[in-house]
Amino acid sequence: MGRFSYVANFYFFLVVILSCAEIMVAIDSFDVSRPVYHNVTLSSEDGKFLLGFLDYGGSTRFYLGIWYNVFPTQVIWVANKDNPLNDTSGVLTIRNDGNLVLRNGGGREFWSTNLQNSASVSVSAQLLDTGNLVLKDNNGGSFLWQSFDHPSHATVAGMKLGWDLRIGLDRNLTSWKSSDDPAAGEYTYGIALEGLPQIVIWRGSSIQYRSGPWNGVNFGNVPLRNDLPYTLTAVINDIEVYYQYHMVNNSSDLVSVLTNNGELRLLLRDNDSQTWRPYYEIPEDECSSYGYCGPNAICYITFAERCRCMTGYKPKSQQQWDISVWSGGCELKEQTNCTERQHFLEMKDMKMPEFLQYLVNKSMSLEECRAACLKDCSCTAYANAYVSGQPSGCLRWLGDLTDVRPILVKENQTLFLRISESDLVSESGPKNKNKITIIVVTMSALVCLLSAVLFFIWRRKLRNKGGEHSSEESQETEKENLELPLFNIITIREATQCFSDSNKIGEGGFGPVYKGKLQTGQEIAVKRLAESSYQGLEEFKNEVLLIAKLQHRNLVRLLGCCIHAEERMLIYEYMPNGSLDSFIFGGFNHSRRLLVWRRRYSIIIGISRGLLYLHRDSRLRIIHRDLKASNVLLDSEMNPKISDFGMARSFGEEQLTTRTLKVVGTYGYMAPEYVIDGIYSMKSDIFSFGVLILEIVSGKQNNQFRHPDHDFNLLGHAWQLSLEGKATELIDPLMAVSFPISEVLRCIQVALLCVQLRPEDRPDMSHVLQMLDTESAVLPQPKRPGFFTERYFDETDSLLAGRWTPNHSTSTHSTSTTIEGR
Ligand SMILES: *[C@@H]1O[C@H](CO)[C@@H](O)[C@H](O)[C@H]1NC(C)=O
Ligand SMILES: *[C@@H]1O[C@H](CO)[C@@H](O)[C@H](O)[C@H]1NC(C)=O
Repeated sequence: MGRFSYVANFYFFLVVILSCAEIMVAIDSFDVSRPVYHNVTLSSEDGKFLLGFLDYGGSTRFYLGIWYNVFPTQVIWVANKDNPLNDTSGVLTIRNDGNLVLRNGGGREFWSTNLQNSASVSVSAQLLDTGNLVLKDNNGGSFLWQSFDHPSHATVAGMKLGWDLRIGLDRNLTSWKSSDDPAAGEYTYGIALEGLPQIVIWRGSSIQYRSGPWNGVNFGNVPLRNDLPYTLTAVINDIEVYYQYHMVNNSSDLVSVLTNNGELRLLLRDNDSQTWRPYYEIPEDECSSYGYCGPNAICYITFAERCRCMTGYKPKSQQQWDISVWSGGCELKEQTNCTERQHFLEMKDMKMPEFLQYLVNKSMSLEECRAACLKDCSCTAYANAYVSGQPSGCLRWLGDLTDVRPILVKENQTLFLRISESDLVSESGPKNKNKITIIVVTMSALVCLLSAVLFFIWRRKLRNKGGEHSSEESQETEKENLELPLFNIITIREATQCFSDSNKIGEGGFGPVYKGKLQTGQEIAVKRLAESSYQGLEEFKNEVLLIAKLQHRNLVRLLGCCIHAEERMLIYEYMPNGSLDSFIFGGFNHSRRLLVWRRRYSIIIGISRGLLYLHRDSRLRIIHRDLKASNVLLDSEMNPKISDFGMARSFGEEQLTTRTLKVVGTYGYMAPEYVIDGIYSMKSDIFSFGVLILEIVSGKQNNQFRHPDHDFNLLGHAWQLSLEGKATELIDPLMAVSFPISEVLRCIQVALLCVQLRPEDRPDMSHVLQMLDTESAVLPQPKRPGFFTERYFDETDSLLAGRWTPNHSTSTHSTSTTIEGR
């Protein structure tokens, strides 16, 4: 919902601008003789920023503010945010003591600059081209006060965020209460000085997010990079601790806003896009949520089991840990005498633990640091403080190590974790050698790439939301033109017994699904779209129409839709046999036995036909993006039908070929380039399809797969067996009835071709069908699969460590992954 309230924000400002349309725009400065009345807007000299009155709460509350003079606008500063005027009599003027003051018609003061000693000088105020409102000494020209030193919820180029230690000035951002109320909300964004400076988001007084400490180059996980439309600089010394950014050229603007729900969002506007495009966001992901894994654990965003204890530690409560409740964290394995813990494990590219109990020494060398740590029984880890130039300084942690994760910015900062001899041995066992390091390298690459995805959806939603408003009245006439049956909500309620729980047959990424029966006796499945997947009415209908036109015997048919107030529903034909996963992953006594090879084979062929249609033959050329066993439904004759096709396209995702903001998908099925780069193409569907074949053949789920001899997932296992010529071992033992072994082996080989690491190596769908269909086809030898193992990377896996290093750098920010379990 947060994103939407934010959208509402934009919409609201449209109103503000319109209501301001008649007013006069004054010059950029004013003094005692020319106050700023409600009917006046002050413009910076270059016209980029305006200062004037804003109204909220349906024009019941009035504020003095500064905003970007563009559409859609963006408020960057509010003076009297906690103390609104209730009429339009406001005036900004200069008091005889030299302070800027905001009064109403009755002379009551609502806000002032509150300076003590400015009475003696002649002053004037000016709105600078940077958006900074300054109070100047007319003689020296020095600033007595500036709005940049008292930020609201946003920063703009040139503004410093952080500390002036000389005067104890802490420039931080405070979120708004709501998009309609600039009063102080719950969140603060600023720089904390404890330990080493780091960027922190607080909710009240508790930390929600921290970047990791300043290491001489970056703020932990937040890169200061210069390949962007803006340059970031930080000044960290004994006098000042701040960062700021500047735009590289004049054709774009950047504003960073602390949203009502505590996210810092960077919005970029360039002349081409004419809108504010989210560019980067923190917290980046779940692992950025402060202390997500509790103490002494590491958070891995790409693992389904997010948290792992550090070496030498075990879960405080195994029970909790087993059910993915991580917050309890980990503790030392056995109460080892501290003298036994004389070794250190190098953990590369980790976010430095939080400064709970710690020591900082800016001059010690790493060797001295190590020696000092060894001497102190409570010392659990150490690291260099700074990585720029010759690494230097010493950080020591005494006690728990909290909020650690692999980071995306690799600066050679290594955390040395204190461990015992036996930990060392288990760490360097033959299988696990260098495991940690490689996980770290790989994971940080993953994280980096994951987060380098654009906010297209958001933008799209933004657009759609606007469209929705304008299309409301044309709703009635539109309905008639729609070829697709529109179901009345009453019909649907009746059919589904008012969406009763007993009629609920599933919950997909886009909302719950209900079974229903129309009065005609026809059975239907009703997908009730989650609010978050809403888009503009017009677009919704267009998309539904397009999807309805996609007809193929291996696709679930869309019968129509239902639009009721804010609700959107899709009506599908009902599939009596449910989804494929309940068959292939069913237990011994279960339906899995029903799936004899013939049936499995025809399901594979059916899915590939459906997919070929989506990829090649349909007019839309749909990429499914979430192909998996639970999205393959079976009709009464066990014919497979792909469901949720077109959903990704229509309900919230951006175009088919480019990068996406949100990696929506299911672990175990997602192609590496999609998970890592956010790049998806038909070849990512092919990857998922390959996984699906292997699952159908083996009766095992890729990401649940465990083998006593190795850590490979199903893909790795299949590949290994195939290399050893033992692919038949993969075949589901429950597939009792005899089967043509060559056909099964061919399917396995085609599957392995589909799951190859590089998208370009994977066949396309028509080729896949050809290979599956033609008995005599000579198949190429598959190369190494992507995501060979979900869990551990071993030393030989250098490809993963090497190839997936970040290779694009346009944008870095949060990526959330929708995981659907079954
Ligand atoms: C704006 O309002 C002030 C005070 O209400 C009034 O004196 C002034 O004439 C108005 N200016 C314009 C341009 O309407
Ligand atoms: C933010 O800054 C204000 C004003 O300098 C200060 O009073 C407040 O304590 C700061 N908040 C945090 C959480 O640092």
